[in-house]
Amino acid sequence: MQTRLDKFISESMAISRADAKKLVSKSAVTVNGTIVKKSDIKIDTDTDEVKANGKTLTSEQFVYIMLNKPVGVVSASTDKNDVTVIDLVKDDFPRRNLFPAGRLDKTSTGFVLITDDGQFAHDILSPKHHVPKTYIVTVDNPVTDEVVQAFEDGVTLADGQLMKSAAIIPYEDRYTAKIILHQGVYHQIKRMLGVFDIGVNTLHRTHIGSLELPADLQPGEYVKLTKEQLLQITNNMFTKS
Ligand code: URA
Repeated sequence: MQTRLDKFISESMAISRADAKKLVSKSAVTVNGTIVKKSDIKIDTDTDEVKANGKTLTSEQFVYIMLNKPVGVVSASTDKNDVTVIDLVKDDFPRRNLFPAGRLDKTSTGFVLITDDGQFAHDILSPKHHVPKTYIVTVDNPVTDEVVQAFEDGVTLADGQLMKSAAIIPYEDRYTAKIILHQGVYHQIKRMLGVFDIGVNTLHRTHIGSLELPADLQPGEYVKLTKEQLLQITNNMFTKS
């Protein structure tokens, strides 16, 4: 496939276009063994060998994107009425078949992972792998010690479903809390808190695994994950019998 050199470098190394151009201008990039000086030349990803700092670059098979979902946007690929998380990113990834790996409610905000890697999405969502997800909630009734204990023991939802053990850590005011879940049931937090007559005012996802949504990533903004960041999601995966 023909592509621009700086685009290829930035996608392959998960760095910005500007940083890719810098590498070229620093003479750190070779194409078929020759140092190149211009970053807008076309290369053929199937036949040309591109190296940066001596390392051969390969074209990326899959892409992984961290989005800060704003309120009102739905976690779906397409929707008749609402803006979707894919609508927010798709112009930058025209040839990718992207979808959200997991859902946040329309009213919730924060970390949504978007990818075209079906196996990866399946793995991180599988209850077998226990990838923790961390949320900050604000609520309309205090989170008592009984609620903390009940979350730890496993809450039974109104429909009889028993949830896995989860952590809820109230802040001093008891109207804000951190919640860590190891499974993803529809409206899970709202339903778990609902059992105790606690209503959710706001719900924001801050982490998937140990990867934190950067505080300076504004609602609607997104970044591609580096390999190291991806590992922060998958290194939490383990299988419990
Ligand atoms: N639990 C909920 O109730 N809503 C979310 O968006 C995520 C977890």
